Amino acid sequence: ANEGYRKTYEKLEEMSATLAQGESWLGNGVQILQFQGFWVPKFCLQGVMLINDHFKPRPTDIILSTFPKCGTTWLRAIIFAILHRNSYGFDENHPLLKSNPLNLVPFLEILIQEGGSIETLSSPRFLSSHLPFSLFPKSMTMAAASSSPCDGGRFVYICREPKDVLVSMWHYMNKLRGRVAEELPPLSLEQAFDLFCKGVTFSGSYWDHVLEYWKASLESPNKVLFLKYEDLKREPSGNVRKLADFLDLPFSVEEENEGMVEKIVELCSFENLSNLDVNKNGKTPGKHPGANSDFFRKGQIGDWRNHLTPQMIEVLDKTTKEKFQDTGLSF
Ligand code: A3P
Repeated sequence: ANEGYRKTYEKLEEMSATLAQGESWLGNGVQILQFQGFWVPKFCLQGVMLINDHFKPRPTDIILSTFPKCGTTWLRAIIFAILHRNSYGFDENHPLLKSNPLNLVPFLEILIQEGGSIETLSSPRFLSSHLPFSLFPKSMTMAAASSSPCDGGRFVYICREPKDVLVSMWHYMNKLRGRVAEELPPLSLEQAFDLFCKGVTFSGSYWDHVLEYWKASLESPNKVLFLKYEDLKREPSGNVRKLADFLDLPFSVEEENEGMVEKIVELCSFENLSNLDVNKNGKTPGKHPGANSDFFRKGQIGDWRNHLTPQMIEVLDKTTKEKFQDTGLSF
């Protein structure tokens, strides 16, 4: 884009030559580099550097942060529906009935690569991200760790039982592998398991990613909301209320009486979204080829039971227990 961007790109090229390279779930088309303890694709690292050099956070920004496959699509839809509940009816004109949530809520690390368009978004900006908390600039995370009113925006984080995340990621990546230019053969579950355990994913180690946001949410509960996929599944209404309260947009008595919370839950349910024409047949635009249906598979808790071997289960459970020990976090 401009001169400032050019300098950042040069810095990236210089730096990336010095970083370790990892095996990619998508073959040679996507380069994976190790940066500050996390494996990330080069196109995300480019986003990280542009955010650090050029992003101007606003106190009203809402960043939905997730490790991939933990419920990004679902929360994109729910938060969008909460924010815009007075702009659209819940009839056939609601944007969520006509667009994949991905198209309504851009990735910060990708949108920033398109130059100034991020600056022209009106407040509150609602953006999504797969970046680890520590890769955001201090202007966003330090503010999140303080109670200063002049802050760098809020983070909503969702995590999910890691065994389900692995199974979901394995299926998803294999769909993408069949669609990349050179049509890669599917990864075996063993290969996916191995990469996942080593933290070689598009967002580094699952456990480290979760822990960073968990700690931030304990330090600053008003700035970082930490949710679990399983809680949202079991108690959607309570969690939608929690989200609205966190965003300073609590439901009024009138809204409660007219069943607004239930309308949002219903609109964003797996059954509803996955059966829409746009999500069954629509294409995902952008650099990485895909179909909207890739983001809707089963939407259930515990599908790992149908796939993982007893050994894989043992290793994953042991790692989770060790990594989350004494943190108050468990599955
Ligand atoms: P499964 O592969 O286990 O079915 P992400 O959106 O972070 O990429 O995560 C995708 C996972 O969330 C997939 O899990 C997908 O089916 C599930 N999902 C998508 N929309 C959902 C919804 N509205 N409710 C519950 N789960 C949903």
